[in-house]
Amino acid sequence: MENRCPVALDVTGADIHGEAAALRKQGPATQVELPGGVVVWSLNSHSVIKRVLSDPRVTKSARNHWPAFINGQIPPDWEMISWIAMDNMVTAYGKDHVRLRKLVGSAFTRRRTEAIKPRIVELTQGLIAALESVPAGEVVDLRERFAYPLPAMLVADLIGMSEDARAKTAKVIDMMVDTTVTPEQAQAVLAGWRGAMAELIAAKRREPAEDITSDLIAARDEDGSRLSEEELTDTIFAILGAGSETTINFFDNSITALLTHPEQRALVTSGQVSWDEVIDETLRVESPLAHLPLRYAVEDIELDGVTIPRGDAILVNYSAIGRDPEVHGDTAGNFDITRENKEHLSFGHGPHFCLGAGIARAVATIGLSTLFERFPGLSLAVEPGELRPLPTFIMNGHRTLPVRLG
Ligand code: HEM
Repeated sequence: MENRCPVALDVTGADIHGEAAALRKQGPATQVELPGGVVVWSLNSHSVIKRVLSDPRVTKSARNHWPAFINGQIPPDWEMISWIAMDNMVTAYGKDHVRLRKLVGSAFTRRRTEAIKPRIVELTQGLIAALESVPAGEVVDLRERFAYPLPAMLVADLIGMSEDARAKTAKVIDMMVDTTVTPEQAQAVLAGWRGAMAELIAAKRREPAEDITSDLIAARDEDGSRLSEEELTDTIFAILGAGSETTINFFDNSITALLTHPEQRALVTSGQVSWDEVIDETLRVESPLAHLPLRYAVEDIELDGVTIPRGDAILVNYSAIGRDPEVHGDTAGNFDITRENKEHLSFGHGPHFCLGAGIARAVATIGLSTLFERFPGLSLAVEPGELRPLPTFIMNGHRTLPVRLG
């Protein structure tokens, strides 16, 4: 492979799909520059990413396997520090990962997912009722009024967070996925979420309840060898962050896709095609996660002629996987709920596969079906081209979703 100067990833996320297509053409792995001049290997093809996600020579633990982080080359005020400095299952490797994941596993079983469905229905109906009071013809930001609060409130419920605390922490999470932030703002994000989680844990220690935070505190306080205090804080934050931002952008993308493809919307609202098909096609063509920071090579890794040297950082582009023409042909970028092959890896693959995929599918089905049933005249209030992308290369969604409810 020829040597190239790494391209800087566009921090404004203006055209993540165009950028991914260009990077994919450069080969199985190509170097890109992140904020702060940090160079990493970007992966954009389905087959290569699938292999890497389940390769035991690939880790997510910067503290154990990223020399640049360990030797201080990555400064503590690096713009993306929150992603790598946390200590939870998301950044753990091997036995540590298994231990940390197992501690919360019981909250994500099929039985527990079934048990929270009535709560999802209740939250959905509350948001729909508030929308019903909007005067006819008025433009509403459906991201703010539905796509955002439904997952955010659900995940806050799972960890036992009050509505007030959730609203405060939401700003921190929004800033964490914003790749245009300054190092000072990044520091504020880190301090912000650590503070919010510490408050939540203190409250649950005083008054335990039926939620994941109380369960984890019990595990920690019963036998400290199972979970350190930092792991406890960071695990709760991982669930909050991983569960909310992804699902918010899923709703944003699926609603946008249906509003811009009326013939497909008719197929699903008439019952000819199921909501599952809408969910998978949205996840394929508009993965809510774009680039997920970061993974590292534990050994030299050869990928179809390119060698990623041991210790180098790797950036998986989830938004590129489902659009790979090698798998989905020339129409890979088209939203089509009737296509046969909707293969995607938008819930991940390998040891870090999404713990909340069942919950995400449940809230997606209930949320979308209720919304489209209640507002059959729902329409976009702007031209699709006017929807502005989020200022990030980490998530894939819009800043606002202006609609008329009809
Ligand atoms: C449409 C919605 C969602 C999408 C697209 C999604 C996507 C993903 C992906 C791609 C990963 C793997 C990341 C990696 O490469 O390491 C992941 C992990 C994870 N997800 Fe989700 N997710 C969604 C919803 C949720 C929900 C609702 C929850 C919890 C309430 C959740 C909790 C987690 C957790 C805890 C992990 C970390 C697992 C680990 O590191 O072992 N996710 N998710």
